[in-house]
Amino acid sequence: MSKEKLQRPPAELLHEKELARLDEADAAPRPPGWRLSLTAARDFILGNAALEVAPKFVGDPSLVERSLVTLATNRGLMLVGDPGTAKSLLSELMAAAVSGDSTLTVQGGAATTEDQIAYSWNYSLLVSEGPSERALVPAPLLDGMREGKVVRFEEITRCPLEVQDSLLSPLSDRALAIAELEGEQSMVFAREGFTIIGTANTRDRGVNDMSAALKRRFNFETVFPIADFDTELALVQREADRILKRSGVPEAPEKDVLAVLVRVFRDLREGDGTSGRLQSALSTAEAVSVAHSMGVKAWYTRQERATAGDIVDCIAGAAAKDSADDTARLRRYLEQKASKRKGEHWADLYAARHGLPG
Ligand SMILES: Nc1ncnc2c1ncn2[C@@H]1O[C@H](COP(=O)(O)OP(=O)(O)OP(=O)(O)O)[C@@H](O)[C@H]1O
Ligand SMILES: [Mg+2]
Repeated sequence: MSKEKLQRPPAELLHEKELARLDEADAAPRPPGWRLSLTAARDFILGNAALEVAPKFVGDPSLVERSLVTLATNRGLMLVGDPGTAKSLLSELMAAAVSGDSTLTVQGGAATTEDQIAYSWNYSLLVSEGPSERALVPAPLLDGMREGKVVRFEEITRCPLEVQDSLLSPLSDRALAIAELEGEQSMVFAREGFTIIGTANTRDRGVNDMSAALKRRFNFETVFPIADFDTELALVQREADRILKRSGVPEAPEKDVLAVLVRVFRDLREGDGTSGRLQSALSTAEAVSVAHSMGVKAWYTRQERATAGDIVDCIAGAAAKDSADDTARLRRYLEQKASKRKGEHWADLYAARHGLPG
């Protein structure tokens, strides 16, 4: 598969060369079923300058280490946190490093069924031949157990409880019963390397609703938003650069323009005297996506680099989706705050304020 034409290649394809370099230089012991050692997996995620491996997840290195340690034990890993804090990214990177495959993924939701998690049947074969290995259609859990790989379960708490509990036996007995098959085939035992990474969003239905039995089989790690302004700005800049290139836009917005964007997000996220906190989740991930829209808009409509004025147009869709009140807060913020800040980019932002829809 060529990654050039894909909108979003999986991590193991996107960072193929880095993984190969890490593998080659890796002399440390590897946990059973792992493609890399724990230290090499850590370097893949956090970066290793000597091997020209770029840092990908920005955050507490000990969180990454603890998470990898969990994956090498017989417990699952549950990443919880606010929306857009890179839980999914971290789980994808860990799966790519540990198993060389991040695609065994179940997307959880209210309509998720056991069929989508474990296995289902090809009905025409089932009817003509009866239950057989040939008629069996594996889903990510069955594949992960058979191949000894990490299975990712996104937004696990959005699934019905009985569906969540179908993970109990794979996690504790490391086995999955296929009741319809007979003999040896009726039981699948997991190979070394199999485990589950769940992610759960603190704004959705809580992890509190999860059964105690299932909770006990996971180690929980909380992923926090990036605390430091400069670190967040550097990340937004790096990601905007990367994504805009893929969209065919030659230049990302200037650093000073992105600094205004990140400041606006932080002010609105934390709330301040005048405008109050926004209901929408203004995460770093959203800041990256606003920077992306700004770049695309400026280039494809004017063949220019984005300015701070473009923030107004592009932020409305990200910042005001939960309630009309948010649009009003955003408007107040632009009127009262942006006017007071110094510099040409803040002036551009202020001048564009009437472009806010609604
Ligand atoms: N700490 C971080 N390190 C690296 N990238 C980050 C970080 N925080 C946010 N990002 C950016 O946000 C994107 C990650 O969003 P991701 O979808 O993984 O978040 P999430 O926590 O799974 O969100 P949700 O709860 O909405 O599913 C990354 O692709 C990156 O651009
Ligand atoms: Mg996610």
